[in-house]
Amino acid sequence: MKRNILITGGAGFIGSHVVRLFVNKYPDYRIVNLDKLTYAGNLANLKDIEDRPNYSFVKADIADLDEMRRIITENHIDGIIHLAAESHVDRSIKDPFTFARTNVMGTLSLLQAAKEYWESLPEKYEGKLFYHISTDEVYGALELTDPQGIESPFTTTASSTEHHHAYGRAFFLETTKYNPHSPYSASKASSDHFVRAYHDTYGMPTLVTNCSNNYGPYQFPEKLIPLFINNIRHRKPLPVYGKGENVRDWLFVEDHARAIDLIFHKGKIADTYNIGGFNEWKNIDLIKVIIRTVDRLLGNPEGHSDSLITYVTDRLGHDMRYAIDSRKLQRELGWEPSLQFEEGIEKTVRWYLDNQAWMDHITSGDYQRYYEDMYSNR
Ligand code: NAD
Ligand code: DAU
Repeated sequence: MKRNILITGGAGFIGSHVVRLFVNKYPDYRIVNLDKLTYAGNLANLKDIEDRPNYSFVKADIADLDEMRRIITENHIDGIIHLAAESHVDRSIKDPFTFARTNVMGTLSLLQAAKEYWESLPEKYEGKLFYHISTDEVYGALELTDPQGIESPFTTTASSTEHHHAYGRAFFLETTKYNPHSPYSASKASSDHFVRAYHDTYGMPTLVTNCSNNYGPYQFPEKLIPLFINNIRHRKPLPVYGKGENVRDWLFVEDHARAIDLIFHKGKIADTYNIGGFNEWKNIDLIKVIIRTVDRLLGNPEGHSDSLITYVTDRLGHDMRYAIDSRKLQRELGWEPSLQFEEGIEKTVRWYLDNQAWMDHITSGDYQRYYEDMYSNR
């Protein structure tokens, strides 16, 4: 079947993996990648597929309603996978307005433009889908309690035996009430509400998924894992926020992209799916795995980089624990992560070490100023 699919934020971390997957897997689909190319957008992430006949790129701001109308209409878009967003929590603490503009007003503009175009067609909403990519952070924060959470139902992601990957009883379900704390998660929650409102009010075919922390190639080095790999390589301090006790559930980015593909094609309209790996790690434990892996791959003796760990002032309002219950997605659509965490981390570290030019390009110029500004007073 021929389709015209708009992927927003396709030059970013997760978006570039989704674009690559769709371009490779669906030669009959026309994939339009729409991205503003902010500091986080990088077309070098898509070098391998940029000349494909079923791929095109358009530089635009999702908050520009007229542009969204034009692009959606001119390309006869019938499916939208919306990933464009400001995505870094620390930046949202410094500059909440940019997050409201892009994540809230941008999502609203895209929704409105799609609604107008689809309602103008004879078949209207039939065969259309607005798929909004959201985060587990909208559900708020869980506490660290006794380790009796849900055991991983997956055959693939269980971590090494020494690591316990369930820190508490409570997990986020699709029905968990929204309770965002950071300006980032508040803006994502607001955009999720708008998406659902467009379904409930206008009957627009929408879908929302909420995913846990992603890791893998092409992630901007403001985020924990690529930042730490790069700092170890350059023998720079590793700034651990607070006591390093916060817990995140980590999922390999290609597994998120596979879930998005499955849900885009088989998900139930107006439904919500949680996506996560049942792979919880305390930051400090994860950091030790990263240090061990980088040192091993660089040929350093074990423990060589341990002294780089530096405890710094905590993130304001730092959510303690996120834990996603993704059993609905497994049960209803049969999705499972494909990798064990140790394999994923090894692949990831190797990729960053092998792609130093990519990293060096990103970490010059503006990034240096960002780094100074974000970390100098911690
Ligand atoms: P990212 O910051 O790497 O990429 C975001 C992309 O959006 C960039 O290419 C950027 O140029 C583009 N963009 C930003 N503002 C724009 C605008 N106004 N108009 C058009 N394009 C714009 O983000 P990511 O980590 O790839 O996250 C992608 C999506 O997935 C986001 O919606 C995020 O909330 C969500 N998400 C991320 C994670 C994660 O762990 N990274 C987990 C769950 C959900
Ligand atoms: O949970 C999904 C979310 O995961 C996504 O919605 C966000 O877009 C994505 O950025 C990510 O948010 P986090 O805040 O969890 O990711 P980050 O990599 O910034 O931080 C991971 C943990 O590591 C968090 O507890 C803060 C801590 N941290 C982070 C940085 C950058 C440090 O201790 N030191 C650091 O320098």
